Amino acid sequence: AKKIKIAIDGPAGSGKSTIAQNLANLLNINYLNSGALYRIIGYYLNERKIDPKDSKIIENILEKLNIEIKNNRYFLDGKDVTITIKDSKIGDLASLYSKNNIVREKVNQIIKKIAEKDNIVVDGRDIGSVVLPDSDIKIYLTASLEERAKRRWNEEKEQKANISFTEILEEIKNRDYNDSNRSIAPLKPAQDAIIIDTTNLSIEEVLQKILKIVKESG
Ligand code: C5P
Repeated sequence: AKKIKIAIDGPAGSGKSTIAQNLANLLNINYLNSGALYRIIGYYLNERKIDPKDSKIIENILEKLNIEIKNNRYFLDGKDVTITIKDSKIGDLASLYSKNNIVREKVNQIIKKIAEKDNIVVDGRDIGSVVLPDSDIKIYLTASLEERAKRRWNEEKEQKANISFTEILEEIKNRDYNDSNRSIAPLKPAQDAIIIDTTNLSIEEVLQKILKIVKESG
């Protein structure tokens, strides 16, 4: 049977993963966080001090790298790294190594393989535009820089007592810049994506909007 694919793309702090995860739960289908795959690879390559431009070494390493996903938990060579990779430093590493095309191909392969056999919601930067262009529904979530920074700050200030709002705002600004200006698969809405500005919307409101779109699509 044909598998349903829903792509949710957008910049850092747009609410993608929260929305995608909730949507998958409501529709009772799988959820895949493509950013987590970039984070795992970024983390692994950085630990080994690999030059992000050294495609040859990266290709060799990625061939042997074992990434598994079970019940929304992410495993690197058998070790559960779900929590480890959430750190914003690892997000920056993901962004750095995600510029390399070998890394992107590896991640895309994993996503495509999973999307072939399961109904799925995938979130990322280039899912609707590059990885799964035949997605049944493509959503591009966005929000003002200030709002996105505010959300991240609220998430992070509990664990990191001394992190300032300005620091997070700068981090997100940099990440936006890097992700939007790289040469391969830059962050941008797919031509046929439905853009939702979530600046003034609650999670519940965004979910309702998307559920309506899903229902109307048949
Ligand atoms: O979404 P998340 O913050 O976890 O993504 C971390 C980084 O991984 C992004 O800043 C981006 O550089 C990269 N990424 C990507 N394409 C995706 C998902 C994430 O390039 N589909």
